[in-house]
Amino acid sequence: MEHLENLLRQIDMTRLPRHVAMIMDGNGRWAKSRGQRRSDGHTEGVGSVRRVTELSSDLGIKYLTLYAFSTENWNRPQEEVDLLMHLIGWAIEKELPDLMRNNVRIHLLGDIDRIPEEPRARLTGARDATAANTGLQLNMCLSYSGRWELTEATRRIAADVAAGRLSPEEITEDLISSHLATGGIPDPDLLIRTGGEQRISNYLLWQNAYSELYFTPTLWPDFGKAEYAEAIIDYQNRERRFGKTSEQVAPKQQA
Ligand code: FPP
Repeated sequence: MEHLENLLRQIDMTRLPRHVAMIMDGNGRWAKSRGQRRSDGHTEGVGSVRRVTELSSDLGIKYLTLYAFSTENWNRPQEEVDLLMHLIGWAIEKELPDLMRNNVRIHLLGDIDRIPEEPRARLTGARDATAANTGLQLNMCLSYSGRWELTEATRRIAADVAAGRLSPEEITEDLISSHLATGGIPDPDLLIRTGGEQRISNYLLWQNAYSELYFTPTLWPDFGKAEYAEAIIDYQNRERRFGKTSEQVAPKQQA
């Protein structure tokens, strides 16, 4: 606890990331290393979701985006898919009173129609119940992948062009951004991936163009507030240049 408080004191509250995205990896390995079932790892992972949501909300971070279930995850054994769907729906419903108390707004990103009816009803119920909340926006990516999203956006833009509602010259970066599932949400400043792999795995492919990447070997169920705070401190010590030179982005010295 004291360790966490020390870390929190090191965070510059005037330079918080506005948007943090996370790839929550390592639940299966966490369970296996304890001789438990993969499903136990996912269940334990809910605690980490709670911790990162709580700290994001307490710090005043505006957007937290979690990769809860990818398009590719549909290819996992049916039993694990069913468990994950049930768990995610159940967890959101159980946390709803706390989310309301903390003014958190749930937003769903992905091919939500593919989610089975019961968990889908719980998820859309939580989304609707929190729609007027103005604190942290918790974006849950479900049945989501970057390529799926870019394909969908391209299809809709092409339909507008074919129907004469849009000319090819009007297709700009902003127009593409606005057609993505994240339309209206600023790009992530910081992407955190747990579980030791160093890849993006089809996550927010367009939006992560300039995100700072933070990879940690910590397995998702072991990821807590202290390491999240460390990731934010690490992010604040980096220089974000967006293609410019160091001199161009350095804060102006007072004369
Ligand atoms: C990856 O670990 C994790 C997932 C595919 C699911 C993430 C789901 C949760 C943390 C459950 C609760 C979520 C919410 C939003 C309430 P893995 O199974 O790929 O782990 P491995 O790489 O060790 O096999």
